[in-house]
Amino acid sequence: MAMTIPGDINVIFKPVKASEIDRAHQLEADGFPADEAESIDKFRYRQTYCPHLFLGAYLADSDLLIGYIAGTGASTPIISFDSMNRHEPEGRTVCIHSVCVDKAYRRRGLASRMMNEYVGRIRQQEIYERAALLSHQHLIPFYENLGFTNSGESNIQLGKEKWFDLIMDLRTK
Ligand SMILES: CC(C)(COP(=O)(O)OP(=O)(O)OC[C@H]1O[C@@H](n2cnc3c(N)ncnc32)[C@H](O)[C@@H]1OP(=O)(O)O)[C@@H](O)C(=O)NCCC(=O)NCCS
Repeated sequence: MAMTIPGDINVIFKPVKASEIDRAHQLEADGFPADEAESIDKFRYRQTYCPHLFLGAYLADSDLLIGYIAGTGASTPIISFDSMNRHEPEGRTVCIHSVCVDKAYRRRGLASRMMNEYVGRIRQQEIYERAALLSHQHLIPFYENLGFTNSGESNIQLGKEKWFDLIMDLRTK
């Protein structure tokens, strides 16, 4: 079902297909600093092994991918380097590795709508107990507004800035 964001732009959400990985990765390269952007091989791996955790936002009219959220399943309660490289089918944590919106469509509430859609879908799958992600300081309020809790500074070092562990318990409403 389509929803409308400011600018009268109709958007639909659906899983990202293998043929759309180049476009998704282009958004990643445009959206993240070079020392944080993930490789296209990781994108291909996630689309192959956990497509149910790779959600896209599309312009309803043209089917252009304008945002995505990509994750893996993990047995650890927070994000580890291993979770970036591997999907554990038995894991009960969804590790969200990328949340990205095309620069032309930012600050219209799209990432918030996309995250609510993502969380709604993983709750419905009834596999996962929590969602975990890494956030820079300036985006902590954005994730807290969506229901995540800041668990403090992460041990992960990736790029120049500090990361914080943000967690959402999926068993509570
Ligand atoms: C972060 C990102 C996903 C936000 O997408 P978006 O669609 O613009 O987000 P929303 O419009 O839903 O933002 C909702 C609120 O979050 C906050 N917010 C959004 N982007 C922010 C930013 N860059 N810095 C601080 N607060 C921000 C604001 O409070 C915003 O409300 P406002 O526009 O009324 O002020 C987008 O800027 C992006 O793709 N950035 C590059 C990749 C990245 O850093 N991803 C996150 C780390 S995984």
